[in-house]
Amino acid sequence: MPPSPLMNVMTKAARKAGRSLIRDFNEVEQLQVSVKGPADFVSKADKQAEKIIFEELKHARPGYSFLMEEAGIVEGKDKTHRWIIDPLDGTTNFLHGIPIFAISIALERDGELVAGLVFNPAMDELFVAEKGKGAFMNDRRLRVAGRQVLDDAVVVTGIPHRGKGGQGEFLSQLGKMMIDVAGVRRTGSAACDLAWTAAGRFDGYWETRLQPWDLAGGIVLMREAGGFVCDINGKQDMLGTGSVVCGNENIQEHMLDVLNRD
Ligand code: IPD
Ligand code: CA
Ligand code: CA
Repeated sequence: MPPSPLMNVMTKAARKAGRSLIRDFNEVEQLQVSVKGPADFVSKADKQAEKIIFEELKHARPGYSFLMEEAGIVEGKDKTHRWIIDPLDGTTNFLHGIPIFAISIALERDGELVAGLVFNPAMDELFVAEKGKGAFMNDRRLRVAGRQVLDDAVVVTGIPHRGKGGQGEFLSQLGKMMIDVAGVRRTGSAACDLAWTAAGRFDGYWETRLQPWDLAGGIVLMREAGGFVCDINGKQDMLGTGSVVCGNENIQEHMLDVLNRD
């Protein structure tokens, strides 16, 4: 299927921002040795990538509204369309020279997520999906993994960093999950976690205390790859609660049972 005009717009913005991130990623290695470290530099890289995406999308679709991690809300004339953007998901990885990070872009229409993109420029993996049109990675159709029981499942999650809160809650979830699954992984990028679960690399993914921009693009990928996505309460308020539990239908259900077990 040829890419739609909408997906062309999203892809062009992500690739342009991706080139900027990669230039900065290559610099980061040099900065590791300095006493100050690369933190300030990375925050500039982040903002620069967001600016590129914002300008590209604004030019291509004037009037659409925005929710961005760095610049926050930018209201457009068109209240029915909203872009949700994380210009650099996996900041800690980026800062440490670990090539697992991504740009995440989603489009919401009338409050419904209709298109999603996750682009990891270091691995040159572009994941795209539009509602009703399937999910793809570099033009290859994606499908979630078919494993049906947790015994065989490798699941991924996120670990709250220092100062974030929720460490006890996370340890309790992990304690319940680790005894039921084949393995638990942590990539450091929620957007990659969703994209890689959509691609069948992970059987399931759960995390809490996320932000809408961590999740929005990847949710569309998961759904269009045949996956099931819900929040920690089994409802559809992922962006509101900042929580996600996903996989194929059975894995998602089993994970939800485990996480909500006393
Ligand atoms: C973070 C990543 C990470 C998740 C954190 C997020 P950032 O986003 O998605 O995987 O565990 O909760 O804040 O800060 O790198 O954009
Ligand atoms: Ca970010
Ligand atoms: Ca993020």
